[in-house]
Amino acid sequence: MSIQIRELMPGFVGEVIGADLSKPLAQDDVLAIDQGMDRLAVLVFHGQNITDEQQLEFSLNFGAIERPDRKSNITQDKDRRIRADMADISNLNKEHQPLGRNDRQRLFNLGNQLWHSDSSFRATPAKYSLLSGRICPSQGGNTEFADMRAAYDALDLQTKEKIEEIVCEHSLLFSRGSLGFDDDLTEEEKQGFAPVRQSLVRVHPKSGRKSLYLSAHAGRIVGWPTPEARIFLRDLNEHATQSQFVYAHKWRAGDLVMWDNRQTMHRARPFEDTSEVRDMRRTTIAGEAMTARQVVAA
Ligand code: OGA
Ligand code: MN
Repeated sequence: MSIQIRELMPGFVGEVIGADLSKPLAQDDVLAIDQGMDRLAVLVFHGQNITDEQQLEFSLNFGAIERPDRKSNITQDKDRRIRADMADISNLNKEHQPLGRNDRQRLFNLGNQLWHSDSSFRATPAKYSLLSGRICPSQGGNTEFADMRAAYDALDLQTKEKIEEIVCEHSLLFSRGSLGFDDDLTEEEKQGFAPVRQSLVRVHPKSGRKSLYLSAHAGRIVGWPTPEARIFLRDLNEHATQSQFVYAHKWRAGDLVMWDNRQTMHRARPFEDTSEVRDMRRTTIAGEAMTARQVVAA
């Protein structure tokens, strides 16, 4: 049986019915999912009790895996709980215990509660993310998604013209700095988090639709005074995350949610993370192109 897509939020979020992600997919189904991603931007699959290997196999249908590294997190290899080609989006340590309140990794991970687009701090940022919910808390811990095409479309003409050529600088230093975590970073970490450039307006390669490429990692606009850039980006973020652009996913174990980072932002919502368990694992599909020319270091 081939898959079907039922829209949960018209033009933005769909539920995929009839897929079993533990098995290789027929080419037609892969194509239908790909087309669904181009047209919507978030797809939800229920009842997928998959292993890490099955998640990776499914992910590979959509491109190359982007590996987490020391430039994208503070985790050292010896502290990793799961395999190196997946991002650990849990609140757990290697012993499968919730991270303590003052744990450095926990405090860094709180940054996921800021609206962002995955890997916008990389020169070539991520295309898709696939998040598999293995263990979900009894309350809270939703993930929210905002449609950056609808947010762009709703801007007035003057603002569209003003932002057309804007290039931003993105870095983990900016997102973590906004939570006051930057004091806690080592010199080596700070150097690894050097800013990259991203266009503020992106054009989707298939649909041709424009979207606002915002993220908590964006902290400067090239050629602008920083406070003016920050307040301008803050206003745009407020606009882009109004409730009419937002979908909230309430997790059940076995859900897999897949989103297009080129057309959306997302954020985690809080839960009782020092006592409850939330085990989520993310595979990330590498992007295919930079959005802006980078400055070559001297
Ligand atoms: C992510 C992420 C949000 C969440 O996986 O990239 O930001 O709700 N997750 O865990
Ligand atoms: Mn994320």
